[in-house]
Amino acid sequence: MKGVSLRLVGVCHDYGGLRVLDDVSLEVPAGRVTMVVGPSGCGKSTLLGIMGGLIRPGSGRVMQEGGMAEGCLNALTYVFQDFALLPWRSVAGNVGLALEGAGVSRAEQGRRVAEVLEVTGLSAFAGAWPRQLSGGMRQRVGIARALVVRPAVLLMDEPLSALDAQTRDLLLEVFAGLIARSGATVVYVTHNLEEAARLGDRVVVLSRRPGRVRAVIEVDEARRGGLAGELWRLIREDAAAAERELACG
Ligand SMILES: Nc1ncnc2c1ncn2[C@@H]1O[C@H](COP(=O)(O)OP(=O)(O)O)[C@@H](O)[C@H]1O
Ligand SMILES: [Mg+2]
Repeated sequence: MKGVSLRLVGVCHDYGGLRVLDDVSLEVPAGRVTMVVGPSGCGKSTLLGIMGGLIRPGSGRVMQEGGMAEGCLNALTYVFQDFALLPWRSVAGNVGLALEGAGVSRAEQGRRVAEVLEVTGLSAFAGAWPRQLSGGMRQRVGIARALVVRPAVLLMDEPLSALDAQTRDLLLEVFAGLIARSGATVVYVTHNLEEAARLGDRVVVLSRRPGRVRAVIEVDEARRGGLAGELWRLIREDAAAAERELACG
């Protein structure tokens, strides 16, 4: 099969005595967009960190299957909520960073950087510094930097959550196009149900902390319109159930 899929089996994680993920088993199919939604603090970033190998799970396993496409220089890349750009590098310098030492020629580096700057609408800002850019532009740099290696798996951690609503809507459309064209396996974490409904091929709904898989929804286009409402009901039910448990002691 083309592309890389991920499989998580029985993943649990604690910070000190605090359990944040409880027995999470999950399939992330190749070449599709898997959204992970759940309330703040339920362990979404931890889960993404475990998928990306940044965090070693307390128990359970993460498996990668499949092969990388031609031109792919990096199996996994991240897009972070806070952009995480290097302030001392220009836009092109930030985007090209991952290509340095990747075994591609200078000319090829330049070509790839120019290409992703073009598709992210940043060509005119190649020489600008991160501090000169708006939040929305910074996150365009964030996604350009992730796409430049043609990743097999693209992990996105609330990439739009630091932006105002208008910028978020605009960038959501840009991201939808870029993600579709990249062909990458995408895991996109958000607490924003509209984003999940707009972008996802499947949506994994996590419970409140400790995060457990509450539902996995396969999205078909006919269902997309009502999906945010459906997700909202699931999450509200979960909150109500947690309150009942508390009340019963
Ligand atoms: N490095 C850490 N040490 C201790 N607690 C942490 C650490 N990272 C996150 N947590 C806690 O674990 C819980 C889950 O965090 P996180 O995975 O960031 O959730 P989410 O991304 O869903 O908001 C939160 O209560 C958070 O405060
Ligand atoms: Mg988070």
